[in-house]
Amino acid sequence: MKRIYNDINLQNRNSFGVVESARELVEFETSEDLREYFSEHRPERWYVLGGGNNTLFTKRYDGVLLTPVCAGRRVLADDGEYVDLRVEAAHDWDTLVEWSVNEGLWGIENLSMIPSSVGAAPVQNIGAYGAEAKDAITVVEYFDTRILEVVRLTNNECHFGYRESIFKQELKGAAIILAVEFRLHRTPTPNLGYGDVIKEVEARGGATLRNIREAICAIRSYKLPDPKVIGNAGSFFKNPIVERSVAEQLLAEYPDMPHYPVGGDAGSVKLAAGWLIDRAGLKGYRSGRVGVHDRQALVLVNHGGATGGEVIELANYVCARVKAKFGVAISPEVNIL
Ligand code: EPU
Repeated sequence: MKRIYNDINLQNRNSFGVVESARELVEFETSEDLREYFSEHRPERWYVLGGGNNTLFTKRYDGVLLTPVCAGRRVLADDGEYVDLRVEAAHDWDTLVEWSVNEGLWGIENLSMIPSSVGAAPVQNIGAYGAEAKDAITVVEYFDTRILEVVRLTNNECHFGYRESIFKQELKGAAIILAVEFRLHRTPTPNLGYGDVIKEVEARGGATLRNIREAICAIRSYKLPDPKVIGNAGSFFKNPIVERSVAEQLLAEYPDMPHYPVGGDAGSVKLAAGWLIDRAGLKGYRSGRVGVHDRQALVLVNHGGATGGEVIELANYVCARVKAKFGVAISPEVNIL
C-alpha cells in the first residue's frame, strides 16, 4: 500500500529542520507499490528520502520523494556463531544496533547512535570509530527503476568505499533500497583503536558489547549535536584525501595536523576536515541562523528557522576559508537538493 502527499512540508522530514517543501511525496511498502507507481507515473525527477538525516533541501523539491515505511527485521540463519539478518529499509539504524548488543551479536556496535535508516546506511557506507556498515553488510536488495525489477547485490558488487558505494555512482537515480542483509557474529571482536574509545571503554570496566556501545554513545553525545534539539546532518563535509606530497608540505608547517594513510593506495593521505575548519578559525562560528558546531567543526547547524540556502552559503564560506588557509578543497558529504 502506498500513500501519496501533495505539496508536502518537509521541515519534520529532514534532520537539518530547514523549512522547504516538495511537490509530491510517496510512502511505499513493497516493490509492488514501486512497480505500480513507476509504471503509471514514470516520474522524471525523484529522490529517496529515508530518515532525511543526510539530505539538505535548498529549495522546493519539484519532483517526487519516495519514502519507505516497512521496518521489519528477520533472522535468516543462525549457526551458533554467525547470525544472518534481513532488515527492511525504514528500520531505524540505532534500534538495530541496540538490538544486536542486547542479543550479544558483534559487528555494528561501533556504529552506535548514527542517525540513519537501515536503507540509507549502504548508500554512503556509514562509518564511525574504525568501523563501517560495509563490514557487516552481505546483500543489498533494491528496486531498479529502469527495469522495474528487484535486484540483489552482494557486498563486493556494492563497490563500497569511504562514504561511497555504487548507489552514489552508477546506480544513482536508478535504485531504491528495499532491504539490507547483515552477518553478525558471537565471538567478541572489540575494535577500540580509534581516538578515545579505549579509554572510555576501560572506564566502564572493559570491552563488553554494552560497554562499547555506551562509550561510543557518550563520545558522540558530547561532540555531536542532537538533531532533535539543533538541526544538523552530522558531518557536513567528507574528510579530504590528498596526495602524499601535499600532506607532507602541510605537515612541515603544521606538525600536529591529524593525517591517516589511506589503505590500499600508498600515495594518498586522509586529512581531518574538522581539524582544518577548526584551525581556519571557524569552530563555533555563527552567521545569522546557521553556524559551525562549537564542539565538532565538521558539523554545520541550523540554530533555528534557517533555510537550506543559508546553510549552503555557510558551507561555501567554510570551503573558501579552508582553501585559502591550507590550499585543500573540502566537499560536502551531505546530499544537496
Ligand atoms: N578535530 C579538530 N577539531 C574539530 C574536529 C576534529 O581538531 O573541530 C580533529 C580531532 O581532534 C581529530 C581529528 O580532527 O584529531 C578527527 O576528528 P574526529 O575523530 O572527531 O573525527 P572526524 O574525522 O572529524 C569522522 C566521521 C564521523 C565519525 C567520526 C568518528 C567523516 C566525515 N566523519 O569524523 O562521522 O563519527 O569520524 O569515527 O568521516 C558523520 O559522518 O556524520 C559522522 C559524524
